[in-house]
Amino acid sequence: MHTIGATSLAQGAYVVAALLFILSLAGLSKHETAREGNVFGMIGMGLALVATLYLSLRDAFWGNVVAVVVAIAIGAAVGIWRARRVEMTGMPELIALLHSFVGAAAVLVGVNTYLETPEGIDGVHSVEIFLGVFIGAVTLTGSIVAFLKLSARMPSTPLMLPRRHLLNLAALVVSAALLVWFVATPSIVPLLLMLLVALAFGWHLVASIGGGDMPVVVSMLNSYSGWAAAAAGFMLGNDLLIVTGALVGSSGAYLSYIMCKAMNRSFVSVIAGGFGSDGAVSDSDVDYGEHRETSAVEVADLLKDASSVVITPGYGMAVAQAQYPVADLTAKLRERGIDVRFGIHPVAGRLPGHMNVLLAEAKVPYDIVLEMDEINDDLASTDVVLVIGANDTVNPAAAEDPTSPIAGMPVLQVWNARDVVVFKRSMNAGYAGVQNPLFFRDNSAMLFGDAKERVEDIIRAL
Ligand code: TAP
Repeated sequence: MHTIGATSLAQGAYVVAALLFILSLAGLSKHETAREGNVFGMIGMGLALVATLYLSLRDAFWGNVVAVVVAIAIGAAVGIWRARRVEMTGMPELIALLHSFVGAAAVLVGVNTYLETPEGIDGVHSVEIFLGVFIGAVTLTGSIVAFLKLSARMPSTPLMLPRRHLLNLAALVVSAALLVWFVATPSIVPLLLMLLVALAFGWHLVASIGGGDMPVVVSMLNSYSGWAAAAAGFMLGNDLLIVTGALVGSSGAYLSYIMCKAMNRSFVSVIAGGFGSDGAVSDSDVDYGEHRETSAVEVADLLKDASSVVITPGYGMAVAQAQYPVADLTAKLRERGIDVRFGIHPVAGRLPGHMNVLLAEAKVPYDIVLEMDEINDDLASTDVVLVIGANDTVNPAAAEDPTSPIAGMPVLQVWNARDVVVFKRSMNAGYAGVQNPLFFRDNSAMLFGDAKERVEDIIRAL
């Protein structure tokens, strides 16, 4: 009686945890409620951990209990140490690395489940194990490549193997054949062969994706890691892991869909890998003419005379940690009665919502932070646009040059404003490695230097 009661209690805790995860996702979908969303998620995870530990350790030996507690302590210590040290600019690669751990866990759980019951596996169970190991392996190597690319340990240019789509298709066909073999005669051979194929497939899938398309890859791997966790949940018979994995998998898939829309890419070609890199030529050799340089004092004068200002931040604002002086500048301009708003590109920075997080951190009011689609039509009637450390997301070539590698990606049409000031340190290209004709337009001026220092100079000059 006592045992049934305890199990029901733990299952009840799982249901509450699953509800808290759903509330967490709902909270995270808006700036105003994001903090609460995080709190719901943390309480849910705490509850889930306690219930799972209780269920799995109830009948275990003391030796096992100690081993699990020590493993949790080591994992938590490493996690806290890394999370405290990571710079905001290093978050994308850290997240990619964390996704690879989920993939590795799914592979280990799958192989272990097989080893524990090689004789008694039925058809459904074999499929669960096979798919779990497959998704886990693809997530593992795909995330490692994403980590290497995002941290610049590997070039962000796409790997263009001959017949690469055919290679991907062959990997899927071979894996399907191995699945049939594994279900017919559960043996370690087809499982390990598939593991090798899936590891290579995951590696190739992400390696063949070019720089500008990495945002979609990050959210796609996020989704894969969710499905890998759900697969592990099936193998372990853990309902909460299935629900949580499905939540992460489906929300990641939806995020990938939003990203695809933002980048004007087809969702199907994302799954096929290597999308967005066909036939495009780099325009680095094109001569766009001369650029014009400006100074902080000149920009301050320009701002004093403006009645409307739009700020479009990008990855450089994160690198410079310029969000605090940008928030100060915004407050100063608003005190002067100038209409200041922000235009946020969906893939500005290196993480979905990267700019929104930084601006919220610096307490910029939410109601003046607008999405690209909300502000693009207003840019033509804007006096001054301050492009702070953004590059690819304001590149007119995306809209005007069909041969550009970022052709078709919707961008903030800042060049339509009366004056544009670009804050960056040099004439170097952005993440996609493409030159930006905006810098050479008659209404653009470059303000060189670290974005934080330059914004502080402007505040002093105002
Ligand atoms: P980017 O195109 O990456 O350009 C950022 C610019 O900031 C650079 O050209 C750099 O120029 C400048 N910069 C760097 N440090 C600076 C500093 N301390 N002060 C001033 N400027 C500085 O930025 P973006 O417009 O935000 O575009 C994002 C790109 O990243 C897109 O291609 C997107 O596809 C990709 N991406 C996005 C994500 C997500 S989910 N958001 C994930 C992965 C990749 P200098 O070196 O000359 O200073």
